[in-house]
Amino acid sequence: SKRTRLIAGNWKMNNDVPAAKELAEALVEQVPASDAVEVVICPPTIDLACTSHKIAGSAIKLGAQNVYWEAKGAYTGETSCDMLKSVDATYCIIGHSERRDYFHETDEDINKKAKALMAAGITPISCCGESLEVREAGKHVEFVVDQIKKDTEGLEITDPSKYVVAYEPIWAIGTGKTATAADAQEVCGAIRATLVEVFGQETADGIRILYGGSAKPENIAGFLAEEDVDGALVGGASLVAESFAAMVEKAA
Ligand code: G3H
Repeated sequence: SKRTRLIAGNWKMNNDVPAAKELAEALVEQVPASDAVEVVICPPTIDLACTSHKIAGSAIKLGAQNVYWEAKGAYTGETSCDMLKSVDATYCIIGHSERRDYFHETDEDINKKAKALMAAGITPISCCGESLEVREAGKHVEFVVDQIKKDTEGLEITDPSKYVVAYEPIWAIGTGKTATAADAQEVCGAIRATLVEVFGQETADGIRILYGGSAKPENIAGFLAEEDVDGALVGGASLVAESFAAMVEKAA
């Protein structure tokens, strides 16, 4: 396809500073460099600076797991776009289902975060995905399409490689239960069609759409073979250097 694949590791709330340094070092050694695939790791905020130092000069890029849209001030516990830039983070996950569920993030919040990141030159990895309840009701496509419309409202995309969508069916996250490749394609195809409506064909064709949810070395090739799946957002398997490196190798 015309899109460069993207494999992103979401470490979630795992690895203190010594463990982050160790994993980053192992990844630098083991992750193959390839023009066919972009590789991003997203450690916890406290690990960003040391990880950045460890991966400097390698093919691995740095992403954050969250950001706040205000530039600075009295927002205890938050991290700004400029702070992320100061450690050379070039990606940031937003709207992960765990943040929507446990921290009550709304589509409006996610939209504001996307705008702030893009203004700062950081690429959002904007997550969407339905619960088991929604899927069982057969409403997963319309649910995700609605999220995409709200999350992208008023965004201006000049470079489509600088906005990424991740589709993560919530029932497949950390459960060992994967969606089938066809399940992933059904929704990722609908996401692409929605992006065409919002941004036009050319821009939509350049936006990477990732699959997430128990992705691992054994199943990644099946997802990547689908027309509208351009990579993966990897949780559990990104915490083991060998597994993450194997996934990058399969995507390259
Ligand atoms: O952001 C990553 C996803 O939530 C997937 O996590 O690979 O552990 O299922 P998982």
